[in-house]
Amino acid sequence: AKFFSEKQDLSGRRILISAGGTREPIDPVRYIGNRSSGKMGYALAEEAARRGADVSLISGQTSLTAPACVNIIKVETAKQMQCRIEEKFPDSEIIIMAAAVADYRVEDIADQKIKKTAETLTITLRKNPDILFSLGQKKKNGQFLVGFAAETQKLLAFAQDKLERKNLDMIIANDVSKKNAGFNTDTNIVKIITKDKNVEDVPLMTKTALASVILDRIILYFDR
Ligand code: CTP
Ligand code: CA
Repeated sequence: AKFFSEKQDLSGRRILISAGGTREPIDPVRYIGNRSSGKMGYALAEEAARRGADVSLISGQTSLTAPACVNIIKVETAKQMQCRIEEKFPDSEIIIMAAAVADYRVEDIADQKIKKTAETLTITLRKNPDILFSLGQKKKNGQFLVGFAAETQKLLAFAQDKLERKNLDMIIANDVSKKNAGFNTDTNIVKIITKDKNVEDVPLMTKTALASVILDRIILYFDR
């Protein structure tokens, strides 16, 4: 199979994608993580590159190998991810936040391994910056900003609220309570919601197939 797609409909487009889960250290040997596999973001990066885009992939934790022809930067924490994304953002036309960013980090990371002396252990968490929200504040004409929403209830309402609050052009709403959808699966079932309140129900499909559908829709709305 050829790497490059027949369709070069993203030729020369500068696309910034985040993928995978962030890890927030507790001490030198422990961290708080999440179940994100990185599959959705990596599939988007690979498909965008196949279609001719100039792709930067800011990757949190994943066991996947880097897609071909993609400029990949690996990060660990939400703050590192934010720093790398903000570096690339001004020069990017399409920005897709597929990463599962930790909402909280450990307030005081222990310098030494924590010993199991106490019967109970309390760790104080501090809210992380919302990367996507800050991109929404800085967005200029000619930039198309896409987010994901992971929900276990009120999918449409919560996703629509995120789209508006974060000033997005499109949001991919993910019902993570469903089997075969969301975190750590090969398939997904989503709704694609646009700024003009168009809602498309996308049926169950592989994340590779879904990546192609998402990029089709981005092209449709971005070029308007
Ligand atoms: N996101 C981000 N920075 C964060 C948290 C989330 O950029 N600190 C991005 C995610 O990459 C995703 C979108 O915001 O594209 C929505 O993430 P989600 O976890 O569904 O929503 P939150 O805004 O974090 O709200 P909550 O988890 O409370 O539902
Ligand atoms: Ca969150």
